[in-house]
Amino acid sequence: MADPVLSMTGIRKAYGPVRVLEEVGLTLHPGEVRCLAGENGSGKSTLIKILSGVVPADAGSVTIAGQTIGADARQAIAAALSVIYQDFSLFPNLTVSENIAFLKTTAGGERWHRARADRRLARETLARMRVDLDLDMLVELLPVASKQLVAIARALANEARVIVMDEPTTALTRSEVARLAEIIAALKAEGVAFLFVSHKTEEVFAFCDTITVLRDGQVVAEGPTSAFDAARLGCEMTGRAIDTQRLARAAPVAAEPFLSVRDLARKGDYAGVDLDLRPGEVVSLVGLLGSGRTELSLSLFGMLHPDEGTITIEGRPVRFTDARDAMAAGIAYVPEDRLTEGLFLDQPIADNITVATLSSRGFLSRSALKKRARDAVQRLRIKTPGVEPTVATLSGGNQQRVVLARWMERSPRLMILNGPTVGVDIGSKREIHEILLALSRAGTAVMVVTDDIGEAMALSDRVLVMVKGRITGAFDADAVDEDRLYTEITGGGRG
Ligand SMILES: Nc1ncnc2c1ncn2[C@@H]1O[C@H](COP(=O)(O)OP(=O)(O)OP(=O)(O)O)[C@@H](O)[C@H]1O
Ligand SMILES: [Mg+2]
Repeated sequence: MADPVLSMTGIRKAYGPVRVLEEVGLTLHPGEVRCLAGENGSGKSTLIKILSGVVPADAGSVTIAGQTIGADARQAIAAALSVIYQDFSLFPNLTVSENIAFLKTTAGGERWHRARADRRLARETLARMRVDLDLDMLVELLPVASKQLVAIARALANEARVIVMDEPTTALTRSEVARLAEIIAALKAEGVAFLFVSHKTEEVFAFCDTITVLRDGQVVAEGPTSAFDAARLGCEMTGRAIDTQRLARAAPVAAEPFLSVRDLARKGDYAGVDLDLRPGEVVSLVGLLGSGRTELSLSLFGMLHPDEGTITIEGRPVRFTDARDAMAAGIAYVPEDRLTEGLFLDQPIADNITVATLSSRGFLSRSALKKRARDAVQRLRIKTPGVEPTVATLSGGNQQRVVLARWMERSPRLMILNGPTVGVDIGSKREIHEILLALSRAGTAVMVVTDDIGEAMALSDRVLVMVKGRITGAFDADAVDEDRLYTEITGGGRG
C-alpha cells in the first residue's frame, strides 16, 4: 500500500478539566474516503480543527503529505489539506469561477488577465469533476447542492490532496447525494482522499471505504465500511443498541384543532393549503428544499404574511402581524438554522435557555431560573459540565438542543419545528423524537417540518407531503412506507 497522505497519532486535547480527545490516531491513504463518526460532542470537529491548524493539540502529531504540521492553518493549506465547513465559506457575491479560483489567484496582475486565468482554472477543475456549472453565475443564486460542488472545486483548484467535509450534505436530496458520490468516486481515482463527517447513515454507507468511530474523545472502532452496518455503527457510537423503528405510542386522542388553516395562499410560495393541528398529535410536513414548506411554517408563526385564506386558533380567526403575536397566541417556532436563530454564543447556556422564560412566567429568581436551565439540560441530555459555560463551548448538535430547550421552556400550545434534528447524531435523534412525542401526548400540538422521511415516519401520527407549494398528499404514518413517501415528495408520477 502507498504511504498515507495523512496521519494523526496520539492526539490529545483538553479544555480546562474537559478532556475532549485522548490518544486519537487516524490515517488516510490516497484515494481513501474515511468516515469520522461519533455522537454529538464526541470530538469530531475538534479533531478536524486540530488537523487544519485552527486549534492547537496538547499532544500528538499530524503529518500531511509527508510534512509535519505546526499550529498554523496556512501551513496546513500549503500542505494540501482543505476543509469544507457546513456553510461552505463561499463568497455569495462572486461568480462560480471567481470562487473556485479564489485561493489560487495571486493578487496583482491585470484584471481581465486574471479573470481569464480564473475561468481557465475553474473550467479545468469542473471538468475533472465532470460537472457542468455556469462559470459566470453568482454563487448566491445557486442551489445548495451546486454551492457544495463549488466548494469542492475550490479545494481541488488549490491542489488539495485531502478534502475534509464536516457535515456537508445537510440539505441534499437523494439524487444530489448520488451525484456527489459519483464525483467523489472520480476524484478518488485521481488519488484525492476524503475525511467525511456525517450524521446521515445512508450517506456514510454510500460514500465511505473506511470508518473511524469516536466515543467520548477516544477511537472505539475502526475498520472497513463493509465490517459495519447501521446497527453496529449506532452501537459503537453510543455504547448501546439504537432502535430505529417507529416509536411506540398510544393513538392520539381526537381533539378539536388548536390551529386550522383554510385555503391559505402566498404568491410564489404556496397555495390552497388546508391544515388542522390538534393538541396531542404530531404532524409532519415533508417536502424538498423549495417546496414551500418553510414559507408555510413561517406564515403560521407570523413571520410571513399570507395573501389569501384564513388561520383560526380554537375557532377564532387570527391575523398575526409578527412573530410576537404568534408567540402570544401560544405558538413556538424552532427554526432550521440554529446559527441565525440568535443563540447568544458568548452567553452562558443557562441564560440562553431561560431568555424567554421570564416574560412568559412572570418574575422568577435567578436561582429558580438556573434550576430550570439545569433541568432542561438534563432532560435534553445536553453534553456540558454545567449551565455556566457559554454556548460557544458546545458541539454543534448540543447547540441545537439548547434551541429546543429554550422553546420548550415557554410551554407552547403549538410547537412548530423546522428540521429539529439536523446535525443531531442518530442516538440523540431518537431521544429528541421521544421528547417531542411526550410533549404532544401532554397536550401540545406538534408540527415537524422536515426533508428526512425516516424522521417523519418514526415520529408522526400524520404525514403531509408538500410539492411545489401545494399539499399533495396526507398519510397516516402507520399506513405508509418510506419509498412511497419518497416518490410523493419528489413529485413522482405527477411530473
Ligand atoms: N472552546 C471550547 N471550550 C470548552 N469545551 C469545548 C470547546 N470546544 C469544544 N468543546 C467541547 O469539546 C467536545 C467535543 O466537541 P466537538 O465540537 O469536537 O464535537 P463533535 O463531535 O463535532 O459534535 P457534533 O456532532 O455535535 O458536531 C464537546 O463536549 C464540547 O463541549
Ligand atoms: Mg461537529
